[in-house]
Amino acid sequence: MLKLLSGEIHKKKTECLVIPVCEDKKIHDDPAILKLIEQTESVKEFKGKKGDTILLYHFSQCKADRILFLGLGKHEKIDPEVLRVFAGTSVKQCIQKQISESIICAPSPEKLNIDAEPMIEAICEGACLGDHIFDKYKKKKTEKPLKKVFIFTDTKTSKSLRRLPARIETICRGTVLAREWVSMPSNEKRPDRFVRSMVKAAEKEDLAFSILDEKALKKNGMGAIMAVGKGSRSRPRLLILDYNPYKNKKTAKNKKTVVLVGKGVTFDSGGINLKPSGSLEEMKMDMSGAASVAATLITIARLKNKFRVVGVIPVVENMPSGDATRPGDIIKSYSGKTIEIGNTDAEGRLILIDAMSYAMKMFNPDVMIDLATLTGACVVALGESIAGVFTKDKKLADAIVESGEKTFERCWAMPMPEDYKTLLKSEFADINNMSSTRWGGAITAALFLSEFVKDTRWAHIDIAGPAYSKKAGDYCGAGGTGFGVRLLMDVLNKL
Ligand code: BES
Ligand code: MN
Ligand code: ZN
Repeated sequence: MLKLLSGEIHKKKTECLVIPVCEDKKIHDDPAILKLIEQTESVKEFKGKKGDTILLYHFSQCKADRILFLGLGKHEKIDPEVLRVFAGTSVKQCIQKQISESIICAPSPEKLNIDAEPMIEAICEGACLGDHIFDKYKKKKTEKPLKKVFIFTDTKTSKSLRRLPARIETICRGTVLAREWVSMPSNEKRPDRFVRSMVKAAEKEDLAFSILDEKALKKNGMGAIMAVGKGSRSRPRLLILDYNPYKNKKTAKNKKTVVLVGKGVTFDSGGINLKPSGSLEEMKMDMSGAASVAATLITIARLKNKFRVVGVIPVVENMPSGDATRPGDIIKSYSGKTIEIGNTDAEGRLILIDAMSYAMKMFNPDVMIDLATLTGACVVALGESIAGVFTKDKKLADAIVESGEKTFERCWAMPMPEDYKTLLKSEFADINNMSSTRWGGAITAALFLSEFVKDTRWAHIDIAGPAYSKKAGDYCGAGGTGFGVRLLMDVLNKL
């Protein structure tokens, strides 16, 4: 869908030429583009302010059917996120006008004081992510995505970065894949079906997979996963997706394995500790960690990562029933530790610890990262757009936070105070899945997980806030956001 373009802009035929304009500075080098911008100077409602937009038709100086001018605001405030928003907005406006192709004029990187690569990257991301329409369940498909977006830039940039758009597009396709899984209603993604859907996508790539079904989970002693799944007719699964570039190379040096774990609760009713109305409606998104991990593995396989990455994805439905696990029940996890179920709604941590113990035993990873919509408390702490990062490994925390800034999938490092662990004490079992206080719930959840991780380098990312959005954003529709795919792709680059 994305391609770089250079040459003489006034000779390019296009349905829509998109030109970003800054409020207080000329941000283009190309004289032809500057000339076109001059035409807006007499339009008093367009000043290049953020959100300003005009569409002009009929030009003698260029071959475009129409030109869409979009304001970027003040130049010192322009960063990659402003460019993502700009590109996403332009694509959405073109879609509304039933246009099928556009040319976006990239600003001059020198004038913006941003390197060419992150600038083009951001424009590509905004355009690609903004082109996603989720209308699977609508009878009338009124909007059609753009087929092609060209990014117009100078000859030098378009030569040196010519392979960038395809890479960005592959990564964004991963984000979109995750979004679609998250937005899919729970009646269409009960555990077995959701796992098959992930396998179907994985089979097309160079990924090995295995599925532990109910019988295998029982046989392996995965008591925590089984306990959460007990109330549902749809039985739990554990999916392993394995991208292994070493598999035919016995002699490979410096072998490295990263494990990604993703919480896959296809619907979280709370179980016997049933959630109240108002907290239930969006719980189809409780498998967002699973969706992002699976989509990341598929993306890695498409882009041929250097080292091994294994996705370990526990998938269950958390439901109340006559068979459901009760508050007060004591279960035995895969690790051997017993757990008192203080609250059946604290189910995410239960499925994660069995998945993580299994991953550590089977794959002995150098680094393990889990992604989970784990606690409402994390949303209270950081709001709906920022994820919480929990790890004792300062370097790993810094790497994740930095990738969050770069991708705008923002993360904030949270503390893991040793002394809070007493809050998880149980009178009867080795540990309680519920804290004895309501405060600091995101932290106690992370500490619970940490009790099952030995010396593996590990980070937990709580994505309960940013995984899902009720309202559409500038380059993301309402529903699943696909948060985590671009973040993890960037983190993996640094490991
Ligand atoms: N899936 C929820 C967390 C959640 C809340 C995700 C809001 C997205 C939006 C999780 O399983 C849960 O229910 N957590 C409880 C934990 C509590 C019972 C200790 C919570 O956050 O209230
Ligand atoms: Mn829950
Ligand atoms: Zn949950």
